[in-house]
Amino acid sequence: MRKTIIEPFKIKVVEPLAMKSRLEREAILQAAHFNLFLVKSEDVTFDFLTDSGTTAMSAAQWAGMMVADESYAGSRSFHRFKDAVTEITGYDHVIPTHQGRAAERLLFGVTIRPGMKVPSNNHFDTTRANIEASGAEAVDLVIAEGKIPENLHPFKGNIDLVRLEAFCEEHQGKIPLGMLTITNNTGGGQPVSLENIKGAARIYRKFGIPFILDACRFAENSYFIKIREAGQSTRTVADIAHETFEQADGCMMCAKKDALVNIGGFIALKNSTWVQELRNQLILTEGFPTYGGLAARDLEAIAIGLQEVLQEDYLRYRVATSAYMAKRLNEMGVPTVQPAGGHAVYIDAKKFLPHIPPSEFPGQALACEMYLQDGVRSCEIGSVMFKEAAKMELVRLAFPRRVYTQSHFDYILEGMEELSSRKEFLRGYQIVDAPPFLRHFTAKFAPLDDIPRKAGTFTVRRPAVLDQ
Ligand code: F0G
Repeated sequence: MRKTIIEPFKIKVVEPLAMKSRLEREAILQAAHFNLFLVKSEDVTFDFLTDSGTTAMSAAQWAGMMVADESYAGSRSFHRFKDAVTEITGYDHVIPTHQGRAAERLLFGVTIRPGMKVPSNNHFDTTRANIEASGAEAVDLVIAEGKIPENLHPFKGNIDLVRLEAFCEEHQGKIPLGMLTITNNTGGGQPVSLENIKGAARIYRKFGIPFILDACRFAENSYFIKIREAGQSTRTVADIAHETFEQADGCMMCAKKDALVNIGGFIALKNSTWVQELRNQLILTEGFPTYGGLAARDLEAIAIGLQEVLQEDYLRYRVATSAYMAKRLNEMGVPTVQPAGGHAVYIDAKKFLPHIPPSEFPGQALACEMYLQDGVRSCEIGSVMFKEAAKMELVRLAFPRRVYTQSHFDYILEGMEELSSRKEFLRGYQIVDAPPFLRHFTAKFAPLDDIPRKAGTFTVRRPAVLDQ
């Protein structure tokens, strides 16, 4: 095994990185009220806010976009897209949407009634919000190991089958559909094993509950099955993906992840029960069933991306990148959720900055300092996002697909080493202004400084070591 991870592609088009000094970034962060969502992307050097819609497309995808057929109805590109989805999933009914949450809103609108319950390993935020907006309850039944950051279970995204069976028994007649999120983003990008997917399918079938996968990272999940699950190592990832989809009755997919595109999504279903109603609703809000809110060129790019994502050289490099980042961070004493997820590394800020209590937002403190250090934009997932309900104080580094290179990652690690050596200088933050909900997007912060300041003026506290 070679130690160096190489990108399995050559670079044809490049985009300059924003190279700013720490001093410039201090002014930028202050002007953005210490909220990284309010920083312009042109002031960010390494943008790890999300892996969603941030993929670098291939030459083949760009070429596909040029030959797309933009007809309103019956476009050639729709059929190409539909065939690509059907080939991978085995599902005949494919409904394009403009992104994942549009698929959620449509499917839940047609299937869910108030008072119902929808189980999953963990529902992603938008999935939960759409279920709740339909008046139903979103229930998380991930295995106990999935909630312990340092636990090394290889499939921490698994659903607890014992609890799932009891849940289905207890709420018979009230469960319009059952789900699994692959990989489990909310739980740290952790995979679900094929055995667990089959177990969930058996239970859902026993109770006559349609089984829908949230499949936006299906290729990463299938690759984890190949490398971690007994008896799977000689199979192709495409074969494993096919068997995964075979277990379920359908899927929702945000194409901005494992379809390697910047926009798009779909619902795909094995049988036609809900299809007519879904298409009626689609026409009402998204568009005609052969484009569903997308341009035909987007459909072409998805069709090609779905094939490219299953290339094992790509998946090996993809999964190795987050594993490498987590390993190197751990070696320098930066704790992360174990094992590394497929698309992201989650730093445990509470453990890393024990002198900053959750009420002073250790995740926010680390995210801001990583921005000041090297222009890295990450996302706090802790008390800023979830208020008192936060169980952990995490900072997510979500890696865009095919965008950054190994030397970028090594450079960031070098900076993290420097940051770690003066972590006791980091201070917490207070919120000075926040909207009533989803406050993390727009809240304004001020650093809690041990130097008293005039009311209304806030200055970044420069670690003394930087002035030497
Ligand atoms: N399901 C999962 C598991 C997701 O991770 C996301 C998006 C969605 C559904 C919704 O898809 O954004 O196309 O509407 N996750 C992004 C993230 C936003 O940063 O993790 P969407």
